[in-house]
Amino acid sequence: MDDHDLLRMTPGPTEVPERVRERMAEPSQNPDVEPEFVDFYRDLTEKLEPIYGDGDVAILGGEGILGLEAAVASLVDPGDKVLCIANGLYGEGFADFVDLYDGEATVCGGDWREPIDVDAVERELETGDYDVATMVHCETPTGVLNDLEPVLDRLTEHDVISVVDAVSSLGGTPVPTERIDVVLGATQKCFSAPPGLTVCAVGDRAWERIETVESRSFYASLEPWKTVIEDEWFPYTHLTANLQALDAATDLLLEEGLDSVYARHEAAAERCRERADDMGLEVYPKNSLASPTVTALDLEGRATDLQAQIREDHGIVLSTGLGDLEDDILRIGHMGHNARIDRVERTMDALEAALE
Ligand SMILES: Cc1ncc(COP(=O)(O)O)c(C=O)c1O
Repeated sequence: MDDHDLLRMTPGPTEVPERVRERMAEPSQNPDVEPEFVDFYRDLTEKLEPIYGDGDVAILGGEGILGLEAAVASLVDPGDKVLCIANGLYGEGFADFVDLYDGEATVCGGDWREPIDVDAVERELETGDYDVATMVHCETPTGVLNDLEPVLDRLTEHDVISVVDAVSSLGGTPVPTERIDVVLGATQKCFSAPPGLTVCAVGDRAWERIETVESRSFYASLEPWKTVIEDEWFPYTHLTANLQALDAATDLLLEEGLDSVYARHEAAAERCRERADDMGLEVYPKNSLASPTVTALDLEGRATDLQAQIREDHGIVLSTGLGDLEDDILRIGHMGHNARIDRVERTMDALEAALE
């Protein structure tokens, strides 16, 4: 099958709509010599506020994982204790970045199918050891959406800075950004722009701490981004084509209206789960919430075969689980441009046929 005819229902990178691709191909300003570039960048950061909240938006050149590393590198000094609240791969992965920057990570969590254990979080916070905590809103590899509110309540009570990876939820479902100190997102999920940018919204409390931390990275650091607009100076040549794509993708979301975008994701997810249920399949999350942006189906030992067959016979690209769960989870991304009932129906028809 011709590559152009494939339907890519993966949980990121998602299909990039034509208007975004066209904008990306337009001529770019030279960020080093054209002052208009700063205006364009500032307007884009302001445009992102309805989705990212009122922290200062910094757009870094690099994939989503850069934001996770930059947040840790900017907030953690050697020996600092960090609470990594985790019920999935990315939640646990934060601890690796903390180790990398010589902090002391405590992973608070366990079962990847269950919600965050808020009582366990509270017990850890009562030790008074932590100034920073990390967590993930949507665990893309397992399709779990975490209810952040009760955790943020505890972090606020204990005056702990919150870092939230919302890479696969921002722009697809509401994120309580006004309560989060560092919100992390990327372009290739619900924004349906190409991979290449990581977007961070940083609140005042986080900036205050960043000023006290000895920066041990330049590229993976938030610190240089605080004053880019006032100083009209960027740490490196920005990725102009990717910024243009993000600009167009954000326009599409705002023109549709965020409420409508979120409802479209809910409807697509609901239909996906209904169809799965009709086929006797279970979603991977158990007592936790299933994400409106990605559905992870429990297909013990069959996921990679089904993935290959669905691509071969139906031209639909799906994802499997990651790591040890590769063969046990089949993932359908109904995020961004692909959060549409007709695409979900086509995908589930293919899955049904493959199962038969
Ligand atoms: C929850 C989450 N965080 C972060 C990332 C960014 O990872 P990467 O830069 O490898 O795409 C992803 C990408 O899948 C993700 O799903």
